[in-house]
This record gives sequence, structure tokens and C-alpha cells, in this order.
Amino acid sequence: MRAIWNGEVISESDDTVIVEGNHYFPESSLRLEFFSASSDSETWRGMEGAHSSGLCRHLGVSNFSASKMRSLLEIAAVKPKVNQIELHPHLQQPDLVDFCQSQGVHVTAYTSLGSLDRPDNLKGEAEPVLLDDPTVAAIAKQLGVTPARVLLAWAIGREITVIPKSVSPNRLEENLASADTSLTAEDMQAIKALDRGRRYVAGDFFTWGDSPYTLDNIWDE
Ligand SMILES: NC(=O)c1ccc[n+]([C@@H]2O[C@H](COP(=O)([O-])OP(=O)(O)OC[C@H]3O[C@@H](n4cnc5c(N)ncnc54)[C@H](OP(=O)(O)O)[C@@H]3O)[C@@H](O)[C@H]2O)c1
Repeated sequence: MRAIWNGEVISESDDTVIVEGNHYFPESSLRLEFFSASSDSETWRGMEGAHSSGLCRHLGVSNFSASKMRSLLEIAAVKPKVNQIELHPHLQQPDLVDFCQSQGVHVTAYTSLGSLDRPDNLKGEAEPVLLDDPTVAAIAKQLGVTPARVLLAWAIGREITVIPKSVSPNRLEENLASADTSLTAEDMQAIKALDRGRRYVAGDFFTWGDSPYTLDNIWDE
């Protein structure tokens, strides 16, 4: 690995290359490193160290279930500000959202639009296309907006931050405009009925290598 920070090489070995200004990028999206020797609590202590030495302003986690979040909150001297999780009408996770929000941990949703541009090897067979969901499409038609705006407005209406990804400037603008789209209580109710507990991100890549996780235990379900 070669890591560069502010133009200076700060570590070097002959593995993954991660370079670019002040940002770190893996050379290939298929190269991921797992640090399975550390428990969540040990990792959190390390992150708290980074926080107390001023290397970061806030700490957050991703893909934490309510059970993992509960354990973390028991030991955390610095509370996590955010939990970034998969969340959309087909995977609404109401208990996890309620728990995080009740603890003052902000929820950020990924896969809000169904993550259509994921690599094919990470997709399931015959995946439903969120943007084509008939209920979402009907609400969009009635409001005169796109299905994407409805999907994002639905999450924003639950006080959840969205981070939709697009390479298109027009879509970026459209996605930003979702903050101005309001769904009615009936719309929210109709979308609530779409929950089927279905993940787009099964989590396969979190189980590779020496990861302590398996597809059976990773989500604590
Ligand atoms: N923490 C985690 O474990 C985790 C896991 C997955 C993703 N993420 C993060 O979540 C963020 C979002 O990525 P995602 O994978 O969840 O994808 P996403 O935002 O659900 O979907 C992105 C796809 O939607 C399309 N799109 C964007 N705006 C659109 C619009 N207005 N109308 C129609 N299609 C639209 C994009 O195509 P175009 O580019 O062609 O517009 C792209 O194909 C990323 O920052 C990603 O790194 C985090």
C-alpha cells in the first residue's frame, strides 16, 4: 500500500495503491481490507483517539444493526453521530430507524434509488427496480415529479438524510430538488405498505477474507 497525505508519502508497501490529493481511493473496487483482529469496541476506541487528537470532528458508523448500536452506545465515550444504512421503501427498517433516532444518532440512507449501477456480480437475480415500482410511479405521476424525487422525499419525510449518487448534472439537480417535494400522509402510508425487508446490498463483500461476518449473522436478523 502507498498512502499519500497532502502530497507526502506517509506509508508504502507493495499491496493496494491509494492516492489522490487528500483522499484515499482503492486501486480496484474489488480490493477491500478487513481488520478482523479488532472488535467493534477496540475499533471505536481507536476512532475516539482520532477524535480526541483532532483528526476528525465527528464519528459515525455504517451498517450497524440495533443490536450492534446498543453495544456500541454502552461503551462509547464519544457517541456516534450517524449510522449509514441501506434504506428505501422495500427495506424500511422502522425499528432500527426509531432506535437510532431515539438515541440521537442520525440515520443516513444509501441505496435510496436502488443502486442500479452496482457491479453485476453484486446484484441478485431478477432484482425489482425500485424506480419502476408502480406505487411510487403513481404517486410521482400525481405530484408531477419523477419517481426518484418521490423515493428521496419519502426518506427525507422520515428525517433521514439521503446520499443519491449520479454522474448526471440534471439528475443531481433533480435529486436536490427532492427536499422541496412533500408527500401526503396517504402517500407515506401507501409507501409504508411496500416494505418487504429486501436488501439490494446483501453484504457479500463484508464477509470476504478473514471477516468475522457471514451472510447469516451480519445483519443480526
Ligand atoms: N455504507 C455502505 O455500505 C454503502 C453501500 C452502498 C452504497 N453506499 C453509498 O451510497 C451512495 C449512493 O450510492 P448507491 O449505491 O446507494 O446508489 P443510488 O444512489 O441508490 O443509485 C445510483 C443510481 O441511480 C441513478 N440515478 C441517480 N439519480 C437518478 C435520478 N434522479 N433518476 C434516475 N436515476 C438516477 C444513477 O445513475 P446515473 O449516475 O446515470 O444518474 C445510478 O445508477 C454512494 O455514496 C455509495 O458509496 C454506501
